[in-house]
Amino acid sequence: MVGIMVCAAALSGEPTSAPDTLEARAQGCSTCHGAHGEGTQDLNFPRIAGKPAGYLFNQLQNFRDGQRSYPPMNYLLAYTHDDYMAELAGYFAAQPVKQQTAIEPSQASNLVGERLVHRGDPAAGVPACVACHGERLTGIEPGIPGLIGLNSRYIAAQLVSWRVGTRQAKQPDCMHEIAGRLTESQIHLAAAWLAAQPPASPTAPAKAGTWKTPIPCGSEP
Ligand code: HEC
Ligand code: HEC
Repeated sequence: MVGIMVCAAALSGEPTSAPDTLEARAQGCSTCHGAHGEGTQDLNFPRIAGKPAGYLFNQLQNFRDGQRSYPPMNYLLAYTHDDYMAELAGYFAAQPVKQQTAIEPSQASNLVGERLVHRGDPAAGVPACVACHGERLTGIEPGIPGLIGLNSRYIAAQLVSWRVGTRQAKQPDCMHEIAGRLTESQIHLAAAWLAAQPPASPTAPAKAGTWKTPIPCGSEP
C-alpha cells in the first residue's frame, strides 16, 4: 500500500510533505527498527541494518506473502511490489551496524550453547550453525544472515516459529529441518550463547560462494 500511495503522489505531481527519497520512505520502518535499521531498546524489534540484501528481500516477501507472521508488518507490506522491496532491502543492507558490544554478556560461559553453535549435534543430525552462518557468525551473501547482535528472545522465538511452521523460508527450508531437530533446551542455550557474543569486526556478511552449506537451503542458491 505504501508503494502505491507513493507512486500515486509522484504521478499526480502534487507536492508531498516529505521529499520522495528512499530514505524518507524508510522512515516508516524507523519507529520499530531504529532510524537506520540499527535496532531499538525494544528487544523484540530486530536490527535490519547491514544484513545481506537478499536475506532482507526474502523476509519482506515472506511477511507480505504470509510466510512470517507479525501483523503490523504483514499489513504494512500487504500490497508492496517486489521492486520496491528490493530497494528497501538494498537501503538497509547498506546501513552501518552501530552495536559494538554483546547484547547479553552474562551468558558467555554457556558451554553447551557454544558447542551447539560450533559443532552442532551430529547424533540428532544438526549441522554446526557456523557451517552456514560462518565461523565469525556474520552470515553470507545473498541469503544467510549473521546471528550476532540479536537478543536471545528473538533468536529463540524464530527457531520455535520454524519448528511449528509460523515462519517459513524458501524450499528446501533448511532452518525448518534444523529447528525441528533441536530440543527446547538446545534452542534456549544456543540463543543465550549467541546473544552473549560481541560482534565480529567488520560485521559485513561474507561474499557469496565463500563456503557451501552442508545441506541445501532454498534461500542460498
Ligand atoms: C510496528 C513495528 C514495525 C514496523 C513499522 C516495521 N517493522 Fe519490521 N519487524 C518488526 C518486528 C517485531 C519484526 C520481527 C517479527 C518476528 O518476530 O518475526 C520485524 C522483522 C523485520 C524483518 C526481518 C528481520 C530478520 O532479521 O529476519 C525485516 C527485514 C523488516 N522487519 C523490515 C522492515 C521494513 C523495511 C519496514 C518498513 C517498510 C518495517 N520492517 C517496519 C516490527 C516492525
Ligand atoms: C544448512 C545451513 C544452516 C545451518 C546449519 C543453520 N542455519 Fe540458520 N539460517 C539458514 C538460512 C538459509 C537462513 C535464512 C532463512 C530465511 O530466508 O528466512 C537462516 C536463518 C536463521 C535465523 C534467523 C535470523 C533472523 O535475523 O531472523 C536464525 C535465528 C538462525 N538461522 C539460527 C540458526 C542456529 C541457532 C543454527 C544452529 C543450531 C543454525 N541457524 C544453523 C541456514 C542455516
